[in-house]
Amino acid sequence: MLHGPCHSTLQPASASKGFAWNLGSGSTGTLGAGVMETGSLLAGAGVLLAIVWIWFAVYYWLNPQLKNPDAKARMTGTCGDTMEIGIQFDRKHVAVKTCCWTDGCITSLNCIHAAADLAKGKSVDAILDIDADAIQRSIGGLPKEHWHCATLAASTLHAAMDDYMNIHNLDSEPSLNDNPPDGNA
Ligand code: FES
Repeated sequence: MLHGPCHSTLQPASASKGFAWNLGSGSTGTLGAGVMETGSLLAGAGVLLAIVWIWFAVYYWLNPQLKNPDAKARMTGTCGDTMEIGIQFDRKHVAVKTCCWTDGCITSLNCIHAAADLAKGKSVDAILDIDADAIQRSIGGLPKEHWHCATLAASTLHAAMDDYMNIHNLDSEPSLNDNPPDGNA
């Protein structure tokens, strides 16, 4: 038979035992708390693993990789942010796949993604025409203080094209569709 309020059955086992609670049935309370603690730790570890997995999945979804890009460049701006772009071309020098990366802010990410998207499906000449203004317009405009993000994205894209033109001995205005690198039309 219980007497008094129910909290009277839940008391600290002793001051020195700290977290062990006496529930009125010997060591059962301490054991139960231990099992609950282990369960909580395992659940916490599971949640943490799930978050890490989702983070990697989103990261690789946002930053698809090209194993062997035909053109690539990596540039660091005066702000300290680095951007990277890779482009794969078909035999007629048309960009078929692109990938990009930056360690910069969300505006930098938008700009380098816009540069990569604008380059897709374009010839070398058309890609060289993509400038900071085209990039900032494609993302709906930029405040003046973020213009350098679009400029860095354009510079990175153009550096990748320099790399490609050097490798394929193309001048700045190649007659692309008439002169694929392997001689096939
Ligand atoms: Fe550095 Fe945008 S803040 S590129």
